[in-house]
Amino acid sequence: MKPIKAQLKIISNERFGNNLHRITCESAEKLPHIAAGQFAHIKVPNKQLRRPICVYRNTDKTITFMIADVGEGTAAFTAFGAGAEFDALLPLGNGFPILPDKTNIALLGGGTGCAPLLKIARDNPSLNVTALLGFPNADMRRAYGDDFDTVCKQVCYCTDDGSYGYRGYPTELLTEIAPEVLYVCGATGMMKTAKEYCRKLGVIGFASMEQRMGCGVGACLVCSVRIMRDGKEKLLRACADGPVFPIEEIII
Ligand SMILES: Cc1cc2nc3c(=O)[nH]c(=O)nc-3n(C[C@H](O)[C@H](O)[C@H](O)COP(=O)(O)OP(=O)(O)OC[C@H]3O[C@@H](n4cnc5c(N)ncnc54)[C@H](O)[C@@H]3O)c2cc1C
Ligand code: FES
Repeated sequence: MKPIKAQLKIISNERFGNNLHRITCESAEKLPHIAAGQFAHIKVPNKQLRRPICVYRNTDKTITFMIADVGEGTAAFTAFGAGAEFDALLPLGNGFPILPDKTNIALLGGGTGCAPLLKIARDNPSLNVTALLGFPNADMRRAYGDDFDTVCKQVCYCTDDGSYGYRGYPTELLTEIAPEVLYVCGATGMMKTAKEYCRKLGVIGFASMEQRMGCGVGACLVCSVRIMRDGKEKLLRACADGPVFPIEEIII
């Protein structure tokens, strides 16, 4: 699907905890099909380079992002209120592959890394999905409401401070599940543990990589990821070849 430049208007911007924003926008035009794990390259105020943000939820005319304010670009963008307009190139990247003969799947996400995983379950209702989701605290978890509960068979919420659900990391619960496919997005430590889990148990794994990006469309090589493919180390572009890669190929 060729990306478009979508003109978006913010309908709501809700803040959760210190810095997480759930921002829902409407599009003047019908949005193209967006696969789970694909991202939008968002124009933020006063910055030449766009910022990559995954699509959390969407309909034909609306799109929701979960955005953590971590620097100048995201701070300027998350300061926008209802009615503000901006443009975004979308959909970009490859998205998570859905394997037709594998129905028992698990989602493993940490922080804003939970956001790209929702659409896997939402867009594929025939899958039997267990989600292991980690957040710093209950406030950040609240941003996701019951979105995962309504589309997953089982959801285990974990918080670092124990203020909601299991106290600890979601990776600590990995040994209690035995999916056919594991989809992961989170910090490097989570990726490492998930990669090792998949190797040991022979589980198929896919991970979404959050690299810094420049152009977002494969031209500048800013977003290179070290990948081991066909016995050779390669540098692949997170924006155009990814952001999703087979977990066993990622050199962490
Ligand atoms: C495919 C993809 C999907 C993403 N989806 C989301 C999402 O749904 N929600 C969300 O909040 N964030 C997401 N990110 C991360 C987001 O793009 C960065 O947090 C953002 O670009 C930072 O911009 P800034 O100007 O605020 O920060 P900067 O001032 O540029 O940097 C602030 C901090 O963020 C780090 N950073 C900058 N760019 C990235 C990046 N691309 N990935 C990770 N860390 C970065 C910097 O190293 C620094 O520590 C995604 C990144 C990618 C590649
Ligand atoms: S961001 Fe330019 S090649 Fe990926």
